[in-house]
Amino acid sequence: MKNEMWSGRFSAASDKLLEEFNVSLHVDKFLFQEDIQGSIAHASMLENCGILTKEELKAIVKALNQIKLEIEQGQFIFDLKDEDIHMAIEKRLSQIIGSEIGGKLHTARSRNDQVATDFKLYTKKAHVDLILLLKELIQTILSHAKIHKNTIMPSFTHLQHAQIVSFSFYILAYAFMFMRDIKRLQNSLELADFSPLGSCACAGTSYKTDRNFSAKILGFKNIMPNAMDGVSDRDFALDLLYDIALIFTHTSRLCEEMILFSSSEFGFLSISDSFSTGSSIMPQKKNPDVCELIRGKTGRVYGNLISLLTTMKALPLAYNKDMQEDKEALFDSVKTAKESLIILNALLKEVQVNKENMAQACKKGHLLATDLADYLVNEKNIPFRKAHFIVGSVVAQAEKDKIDISQIKDLSKINPIFDQKAMKCLNFEHSLNAKQSEGSSSVASVEKQIQILENFIASL
Ligand code: ARG
Repeated sequence: MKNEMWSGRFSAASDKLLEEFNVSLHVDKFLFQEDIQGSIAHASMLENCGILTKEELKAIVKALNQIKLEIEQGQFIFDLKDEDIHMAIEKRLSQIIGSEIGGKLHTARSRNDQVATDFKLYTKKAHVDLILLLKELIQTILSHAKIHKNTIMPSFTHLQHAQIVSFSFYILAYAFMFMRDIKRLQNSLELADFSPLGSCACAGTSYKTDRNFSAKILGFKNIMPNAMDGVSDRDFALDLLYDIALIFTHTSRLCEEMILFSSSEFGFLSISDSFSTGSSIMPQKKNPDVCELIRGKTGRVYGNLISLLTTMKALPLAYNKDMQEDKEALFDSVKTAKESLIILNALLKEVQVNKENMAQACKKGHLLATDLADYLVNEKNIPFRKAHFIVGSVVAQAEKDKIDISQIKDLSKINPIFDQKAMKCLNFEHSLNAKQSEGSSSVASVEKQIQILENFIASL
């Protein structure tokens, strides 16, 4: 059978292979709401510009709403011959109200601006959903941060013990990453807020249309100023794919640490039973599958970004069918991100912080060595490099004695430069609060950081 949509030009029917290869309905049917929303806005604009009568608009809108209901209730028949959601809905429209009126909807519009509009509406909504989920994640982190300002733990560089920090300070680092993720989404949302609708195939139209009218109905701040760019642009999808890729860079680091910190070697955290899995053979096992899966899914969201970047690279203007490949990548990344953020938040809410084990771990790895060097600089006016050397020899002595420097009873016995006052540096709480710089691990600084995040959350 010839495709009804372009049967005027064609004498032969499409090959079955072509039909199957060309179809995107199975993917873009999820854009049905956006497509109907876009069509209603377009029809309203046509009526406002005198291209449709009031009655025609009424009939079109009524039928489009009926189609929406049919799809929502599973009564709509998706026929792969219709190629995509745009043609499927338009065909059904003419079935309901006849092609005399139904056939007028596509005046001053092309599938090229139609698909760009639908996809942009979807993308904009996804931004808003992700911002909300990230906000909830920050709130969960804040609830932990507020109660663990004095819970000491080692920090790491090169995964070797570095200095004393608090659990609040540590976990807040992630809240700031997620805050930037939200800001990044806000930025890309602003760039996406330009309506392509009415760009038509690529050159605009000879009808006297009002693109601002439909843009306003659809909640776009602006219109794409150039029709060719309007139908060719997929930057908005790439921006979101990148934003999601970076969210996963952050969640994969957090998940990696939850996996490490909940292992018997660390024992800093316990993931609740409800978010752990067992082993089919080892009865003792409690595995952090959720964190591993989120870490693993980072691969697919990076892949989606690279996939669309590659599709878009070197495409001649304007629309090319290559661009039909855009949706699967973004749909997958958005779904993966939403599901992952929801479960990560639920898991994080229930995570148990094992203060004792963290405190115990602070007694290894000479975490106070820098504090001791800073003491020599501050109190004895010794240049830092020399102080570093002196404390290095203290560490060497402690290593020989098989103790941590925090267990040294008398520093002056190792080097007479140390007086009694130096002993206070060998105290973990002192170390935490001795930090003076902005953004450091002291309780006062952590409180400021919590305030910054709370102000940000309140501004959303
Ligand atoms: N299914 C197409 C897509 O997703 C819609 C646009 C088709 N336009 C065209 N001229 N073939 O990109």
